[in-house]
Amino acid sequence: MSHLKIGLFGFGCVGSGLYQVLNQNNQLNAKIQKIVAKDPTKSREKTSVPILYDASEIVNDTEINVVVELINDSNEAYEIVKESLKKGKHVVTANKKLIAERLDELIQLANENNVSLLYEGAVAGSIPIIRNLEEYYNNDTLTSIEGIVNGTTNYILTKANQGISYSEALLEAQKKGFAEADPTLDVDGFDPKFKLTILLKHAFGISVSPSNLLNIGIRNLKPQDIQYANEKGFRIKLFASASKDEHGITAFVAPHFIESSHSAYHVDDEFNAVVVQAAYADKQLFYGKGAGSFPTASAVLSDISALQFNYRYEYRKTTPELLSLTTDFELYVYISATTKESLDHIEFEEIDDLYVSKGFSYKIGKIRFNEIQKINWNDQEDLSLLIFSESSNRILKESDKANSYNFHYN
Ligand code: HSE
Repeated sequence: MSHLKIGLFGFGCVGSGLYQVLNQNNQLNAKIQKIVAKDPTKSREKTSVPILYDASEIVNDTEINVVVELINDSNEAYEIVKESLKKGKHVVTANKKLIAERLDELIQLANENNVSLLYEGAVAGSIPIIRNLEEYYNNDTLTSIEGIVNGTTNYILTKANQGISYSEALLEAQKKGFAEADPTLDVDGFDPKFKLTILLKHAFGISVSPSNLLNIGIRNLKPQDIQYANEKGFRIKLFASASKDEHGITAFVAPHFIESSHSAYHVDDEFNAVVVQAAYADKQLFYGKGAGSFPTASAVLSDISALQFNYRYEYRKTTPELLSLTTDFELYVYISATTKESLDHIEFEEIDDLYVSKGFSYKIGKIRFNEIQKINWNDQEDLSLLIFSESSNRILKESDKANSYNFHYN
């Protein structure tokens, strides 16, 4: 494609970052022609192109051949992206909710109009995970993909470990521009779930509605949960996980106990990390900043640059008839509450540990995923659920054998 004439929607954290990054880059044959922002009353830095407030200024401009969509509202974004694709414009977006909820429809529109729809910035900020899943893992050797794909919650969990309160850490994350306009999307695990939905499409070729995936966030974690993790030598990380076996694909978002030998253990602050496991490559770690102005703008820039070479995702793994989500599996978990009674109605397959004290109790053991799904965890302020990774489970069992007790009352 010769010259990229860009219409930019959104001039917030990522949009203004992209504007600066593009201005500093002389090698790209691309130029922002117009910016459309939301709030005409907001004071903004001076720009060399007009900032306008009417979407049709870009969508109906026949000169503009690329639309970069970086706004918060996914419904408005949907209208903009849909109309732009219909008008034959290539679209680059970082809107994970939009892509997670409407991907198949948007792919069809892009194909019908013979244009590209790229969204590397929608998952894990600066980490080029989608392009790698598309190009390098373009076969069916992948067995799992898991990791930290939300910068805000990782920032809060890192600060909690340093003794900084949840609300203070969230405020800092908001000031730094990591958090969503509605931070519930971050702390209740919706944002990482949207990203997981997109990863499922590129990793395993399956289309899933995000409403069918379980997301348990970090809002209800108690100081005692963090203390428990520290005592055992674990860190708590909000993980998005997907893995494939002969029964299908398991996928969910939930806080995990991570052992010190795990590559995600030292992933702090707004950094993200995605661990990909494949049959022959074994484990690979992708690590980088997952939120913030320039890191996200860098992924958007890379998509814009890819348009110069007419790049498109090919979705080679789209084999919906062969693979589907399964909820029929077991997890090894820790569930805590302020009273033992609150834990009694949760049906474990096996209980290996029960701790009861005044104001805090927990159970550890095997539970079926279907049982976990029955509870709306984000709405149960009293309950925390954390999952043991395979290795943290092993480490826990070894240390408990050494301690030689399993049921304790204080
Ligand atoms: N709120 C998101 C996060 C922004 O914290 O990761 C980047 O997608």
